[in-house]
Amino acid sequence: MGKLIIDGGGKVSGEIRVQGAKNAVLPILAATVMADGVSTLKNCPKLRDVDKTDLVLERLGCKVIREDGAVTVDTRGMCDCKICEDLMREMRSSIIFLGAIISRCKRAVVSMPGGCPIGLRPIDLHLKALKELGVEIQEEHGYIKCAAPKLVGANIHLDFPSVGATENAMLAAVCARGTTTISNAAREPEITDLGNFLNSMGANVHGMGSGVITIHGVEKLHGADHTIMPDRIVAATYLAASAVTGGEMCLTNVNPRDMDAMLYALREMGVKLRVERDKIIQTAPERLKSIHTVRTMPYPGFPTDIQSPFMALACTARGTSVFVENIFENRFQNVDELTRMGADIKTEGRTAVIRGVKRLEGANVVARELRGGASLVIAALAANGTTTVSGVELIDRGYENIEKYLLECGAKIRRE
Ligand code: UD1
Repeated sequence: MGKLIIDGGGKVSGEIRVQGAKNAVLPILAATVMADGVSTLKNCPKLRDVDKTDLVLERLGCKVIREDGAVTVDTRGMCDCKICEDLMREMRSSIIFLGAIISRCKRAVVSMPGGCPIGLRPIDLHLKALKELGVEIQEEHGYIKCAAPKLVGANIHLDFPSVGATENAMLAAVCARGTTTISNAAREPEITDLGNFLNSMGANVHGMGSGVITIHGVEKLHGADHTIMPDRIVAATYLAASAVTGGEMCLTNVNPRDMDAMLYALREMGVKLRVERDKIIQTAPERLKSIHTVRTMPYPGFPTDIQSPFMALACTARGTSVFVENIFENRFQNVDELTRMGADIKTEGRTAVIRGVKRLEGANVVARELRGGASLVIAALAANGTTTVSGVELIDRGYENIEKYLLECGAKIRRE
């Protein structure tokens, strides 16, 4: 297991060009299989989850070439419609291939995605939406077998605006006969990026970013080129890493319009932000103020993915902060580790109350999941002495070379 070793206390200041968004590139890579042709995606982050998605594509018979942050997928040799258990277990988001493969092959077989440390993560909404479009689904021996001789447009209502279920429904509906509406759709910017890519492949998708997405089915799609949107969660993580040390940070290749809830929270904690079209410049005070209450919500609410990194900010802020996690039931796994570093956190159910202490102390801590791992890195940057964060592979799922970017901004960090 790899480790990050961090000597805290110094300022993290500098300029970071933000990587492409993990949660946009994964469904867009899946969408490439819907056309019989070649697609090139630019600004792809170099992440383990992207490598795994490339592997899924290769196992389906596609050719994948990776060069300088661009991924080219040639789907003309696609010859399989099944994703095996080993890949589904390793990366739950492979479920997003379901809608795309059904659209291309009229059938698909995927293994049930494994459990996930942050919560149950069922797929009932994905399957319900696909059934509405005429997909016949059988669940047996841990596999989901789908057949759809004819996909027909439908009115789909999601009981909850699930990101993955919205994406799967969009993918399956793009080449269905007639019109589909998805109401109570997820409004996350990554859904808009997927819709824009599908439209550049020849699809007819409207309303992304609103709660109702309308899709007029088209006969077929063609390969397309697309630039992946910047990662808003990674952007906010680097702002937090600098803010906790009282540093100055300039982010480029960023879309501040997608980050309202996070920037609002940072301002409440006392940081000064100057926002330009694709740039954020931040100056932080010596000590942050506490934040009244953070409640995670579907977009445009406060993102669950940045809840743990911002909790690390609250640990040393002046005053008491309250965090309520409404999306995933098991997203406080970083709390025990932050407590080892001297944080004062009480949790009850989905609520955490954090009383800011003046200083955290370096300790040996373990990343148990991606964003919780990032929160430990942020806490370590502000702590007295040395912190060892093990389980860095989990952090690598979402952050490209996290130690390289932080090192360039003056952090004392190394990987072992
Ligand atoms: C995506 C993101 C993840 C982010 C999450 C919420 C990707 C690859 N991952 O995950 O980083 O944290 O959105 O913003 O884009 N649910 C059901 N039934 C379903 C589907 C979901 O009950 O069929 C529930 C989940 O248990 C959870 C909530 O809906 O409580 C939100 O999940 P969802 O929006 O689907 O998240 P993901 O798409 O898995």
